Amino acid sequence: MNSYTTSQLAALNAQLGPLPVPERLRLLLAHTQGEARFSTSLGLEDQVLTHLIATENIPVRIFTIDTGRLFQETYDVLEITRTRYKIAVEIFFPQAQQVQEFVNAHGPNSFYNSVEQRKACCHIRKVEPLQRALHGASVWITGLRAAQSNARGALQFVAWDENHQLLKFNPLLDWTLEQTETFARQHRVPLNALHAKGFPSIGCAPCTRAVQPGEDIRAGRWWWENSHKECGLHSH
Ligand code: ADX
Ligand code: SF4
Repeated sequence: MNSYTTSQLAALNAQLGPLPVPERLRLLLAHTQGEARFSTSLGLEDQVLTHLIATENIPVRIFTIDTGRLFQETYDVLEITRTRYKIAVEIFFPQAQQVQEFVNAHGPNSFYNSVEQRKACCHIRKVEPLQRALHGASVWITGLRAAQSNARGALQFVAWDENHQLLKFNPLLDWTLEQTETFARQHRVPLNALHAKGFPSIGCAPCTRAVQPGEDIRAGRWWWENSHKECGLHSH
């Protein structure tokens, strides 16, 4: 149940705006009880957040969802991150039985057949594991930035997430791509090697391609679909 009023959330959002990211994290944790969990895809934004959480000793559990279809480069950066920061990154997998039944019924690459098949795959491999990963948490931290898409442009720093019954917190919301890249470079944050090869946004290997200069940064995600560029992790 949402225990925050609209005006409490508006006040919190107003307070968060002017603060540096570590102070945003600390402020939100001070205003909430229970556990805060950060979902990392190991992409640029999430690596910057992991760097800040680890180096500033912010008490947050970090997890990632291994869909079973990730790039080798994503596993490589996971390995480097664990070693470099000496932190635990919990890994959540999809339910084996569900994947098995789905793949046996529709084939290994059915996401290319229809939007319905694609969303069903995303549900089994991402959305369901996310529900388990967030179960019992009171805050969900993400690396969403407003500039990533029109839908994300409408987000607040913090909002009540009705689906997961917790506060969803986007501490990098107002950062530009350039700002995020500069921070990562200056602090030698380990990054997915695919970013340097034209992949600004990285998801599952069969559903992500590089983008051309000038193309939208999410154009490489589910590139064969025309409109929808979300997988259901974030229902805005
Ligand atoms: S997606 O919905 O299109 O896949 P995107 O790749 O932009 O999301 O990442 C946005 C945020 O979603 C990340 O900052 C992270 O918090 C979360 N996220 C995306 N993919 C994963 C994953 N595999 N594991 C954990 N969190 C993820
Ligand atoms: Fe399946 Fe592609 Fe969604 Fe990954 S991004 S869960 S492979 S449809």
